[in-house]
Amino acid sequence: MATHPLIEKFQRAGQGQVFAFHDRGSADEQRRLLEDAAEIDLEEVARLTRTLLAKNAGGAVDLSGLAPAPYEKHPAHGGDAVAWSAAKAAGEVALRAGRVAAFTVAGGQGTRLGYDGPKGTFPVTPLKQKTLFQVFAEKILAAGRRYGRPLHWFIMTSHANHAATEAFFAGQDFFGLDRARVHFFRQGRMPAVDFSGKIILEAKCSLALSPDGHGGSLRALERSGALDLMAREGIDTLSYFQVDNPLVRCIDPAFIGWHVLRRSELSSKMVTKAYAEEKVGVFCVQHGKVVVLEYSDLPMTLQRETDAGGQLRYLAGNIAIHVLDREFVRRMARGGEGVALPFHRADKKIPTVDAAGALVKPEKANGVKFELFVFDALPFAKHPLVVETLRRDDFSPVKNADGVDSPQTCRDDQLRQFARWLDANGAVVQTDASGLPSAAVEVSPLFGYDEDSFAEAWKSRTPKPRVESGLYLE
Ligand code: UD1
Repeated sequence: MATHPLIEKFQRAGQGQVFAFHDRGSADEQRRLLEDAAEIDLEEVARLTRTLLAKNAGGAVDLSGLAPAPYEKHPAHGGDAVAWSAAKAAGEVALRAGRVAAFTVAGGQGTRLGYDGPKGTFPVTPLKQKTLFQVFAEKILAAGRRYGRPLHWFIMTSHANHAATEAFFAGQDFFGLDRARVHFFRQGRMPAVDFSGKIILEAKCSLALSPDGHGGSLRALERSGALDLMAREGIDTLSYFQVDNPLVRCIDPAFIGWHVLRRSELSSKMVTKAYAEEKVGVFCVQHGKVVVLEYSDLPMTLQRETDAGGQLRYLAGNIAIHVLDREFVRRMARGGEGVALPFHRADKKIPTVDAAGALVKPEKANGVKFELFVFDALPFAKHPLVVETLRRDDFSPVKNADGVDSPQTCRDDQLRQFARWLDANGAVVQTDASGLPSAAVEVSPLFGYDEDSFAEAWKSRTPKPRVESGLYLE
């Protein structure tokens, strides 16, 4: 029997091992293996093997010409309050014109949290135990009502969690959103390879494939037709956030306004780092381009460097909240001469099979996964912009089962935010020195999803409820 042309192609590329057990698989297994293999860009794998896996690859990170990135300071830290009001007004105009959509990257594997199931289905709020997806949905619903234009929401999933994510939304009746405006699409996958560049089998007839990183969102937006849909709907601005952070202002008029007024193609929010060793990427400039350097790539001496006033010099922490221009995304997705996100290499323990086909769980890293990062698009963007926000207003992710960035710290930060909003509007709230209220309270995003909307809703609420444990404002 003639060999399948795809199998021949893999053999010619030196990747014939992928089909070592093919003939012994069931018809179904054979079909799936061929389908998965068809997804792989063998030239890309060969190129990554030459560049990222070569003996001399992964050497010192290029730090030449590195300096801290300039950023637009928040008014609370001396930023220009008049310019910030103008930005907010411009963002509101864009929202009322229906130019903005929300975009969540939710394709990650969430291994650190140790939670089985799409991360967006993880419960986070203090009283009602609303899930991450519900919090975002209600914020997006509320913003749509506020600006008189229901928003479209794009959600990037992975092969592993796509069906479960869709089923979850259907089961919750889309949290009251118009389901025609909620769009799910899968991100791409990359094969894992061993240290010599051979694609790894995770089972006899199954490739070790994993999501291509949040940077894969740019090509997935294009491939899925999301960009065309946006164009048809008159949407040119995407408000991007991660699935792990319920504090995020999914739709922030001032941030959107800065992006619009500066004609930026890619804008990013930053917070000042809490301490030198904090594990966040840092916004820098290098040879005239804005870049993010991951904490692991920035030497400790630079992370600890301070200016004359004793402040950290590299202090602009990346919290993964961006605004993207639609046609910029298209340009990045299509690529071309010198326009492409670089892949990053991560060495991992990848379960695989031995020569006899028996499953092997490696004790140490046996291979490499390749990932794209969305912030690597910054150097390609026209007029890139970094805008400061306050951590307490935008950032408290759930990443770890306990310790920092855990469900507990996130719950406390939500409580502090609700207490602050109440206090700012004249309610009596008992808190400790960190601002944590003694009473467990919760504000539904449908009541107030940011300082402004909360203040308005509170003003018209009569009689005012007492702040005590169990208070839920809806
Ligand atoms: C990320 C940033 C870091 C930033 C921090 C803020 C990177 C490499 N680092 O770290 O600079 O300070 O967030 O919280 O991004 N995702 C996908 N598909 C993928 C991989 C991830 O959709 O293939 C999504 C996840 O679902 C999640 C987000 O991207 O929403 C972040 O992924 P994660 O790998 O957890 O990033 P961090 O290492 O926490």
